[in-house]
Amino acid sequence: MRVKRNPSISNISPRYLFPEIQQQTHTFLQRHPQADLIDLGIGDTTLPLPSFVAQKMSEKAASLATTAGYQGYGPPQGSPELQKKIAEQLYHGCVDPEEIFISDGAKCDIGRLHYLFGPDTAIAVQDPAYPVYGETYLLSGKSLPIDLMPCLPENDFFPTLPPAADIIYFCSPNNPTGIAATKKQLEELIAFARDHDILIIFDAAYSCFIQDPQLPQSIYEIEEARHVAIEVGSFSKIAGFTGLRLGWTVVPKELRFHDGTPVAQDWKRIVSTCFNGASLLSQSGGIAVLEDHAFLEIQQLTDYYLKNGMLLKKAFCALGFETYGGENAPYVWVKLPEKTSWQGFHAFLEKTRIVSVPGSGFGPAGEGFLRFSSFANRSAVEKAVERLKSFSL
Ligand code: MLT
Repeated sequence: MRVKRNPSISNISPRYLFPEIQQQTHTFLQRHPQADLIDLGIGDTTLPLPSFVAQKMSEKAASLATTAGYQGYGPPQGSPELQKKIAEQLYHGCVDPEEIFISDGAKCDIGRLHYLFGPDTAIAVQDPAYPVYGETYLLSGKSLPIDLMPCLPENDFFPTLPPAADIIYFCSPNNPTGIAATKKQLEELIAFARDHDILIIFDAAYSCFIQDPQLPQSIYEIEEARHVAIEVGSFSKIAGFTGLRLGWTVVPKELRFHDGTPVAQDWKRIVSTCFNGASLLSQSGGIAVLEDHAFLEIQQLTDYYLKNGMLLKKAFCALGFETYGGENAPYVWVKLPEKTSWQGFHAFLEKTRIVSVPGSGFGPAGEGFLRFSSFANRSAVEKAVERLKSFSL
């Protein structure tokens, strides 16, 4: 056909990180068809949905089958009830419901956000970082070099901030390192953004795992953040919605582009143009999750995964590995002595049948690390811990 390929596709690797891991695991299984693998790779939730959430969704589905209850398109910005519940339950009133745009997930919004920005927008990302920030930037046709901000044990995983960036992506607790930024660090980030007219895109997809009350769960816990930050959130990890798909993006009224246009005005235009709202069923599930009694119960899921993280962390520490994260995040970040990430990935697969994620897949500063996910059933984690006892690289 006459259609030319999007040249930006060649600026990203041929396979996204997680399909690449699946492929490597598949190849391993072809050689060892009997292998009893333990998957601590992709961060995908494993515990069943709380039954009251499923119940609410099935009631919604049943009502859609009635004349009185049928509904077609929902409001483009999402259910007002859900917006209100997110504002109250997760932001304790420091964000207005109308500043919340309901979506089908953080990842999808991270991709769509690029529609907001001009072609010569320069971005900076934590290194290591969720690959979606940089890859969707490149796919959107923007091509300035991405400024990588190394986050390593040597700098307490808090980077030197780059004045030349227009946008800084910041994820806390961080995927993949599992490190949550302190209030002081976020204050520094916000002050820097204000001084240099930078926009922060704050990814709070894992915020519900923060246990330490001193650590902020949202960027808006920092005064002034409303002037410089968009925040992306998700139900995936809070409540096991990875397959159901539900998230949101907060765009505060104060945010304005260089020419004075409110960012929220453009975002509203964009989402109503290329997105028709999150599924009504997922939204009804999200409303159920945020009911007071339910929200407390949901926290048991988080606690369960955090306990997994503690068990894994202890096992790696006992083996003498430098180990990070796992306390306020569902990821354990393990430093490999004198091995590349992929060498480590294959060593763990061969010797323990445990699937991990090579740190280098998240950026050059991830080289020499592996990420282990806490999103597994307890029996799998206990089995992993047993196998690790006799592991050596
Ligand atoms: C991860 O494992 O990093 C994430 O769960 C993958 C994703 O959210 O796309």
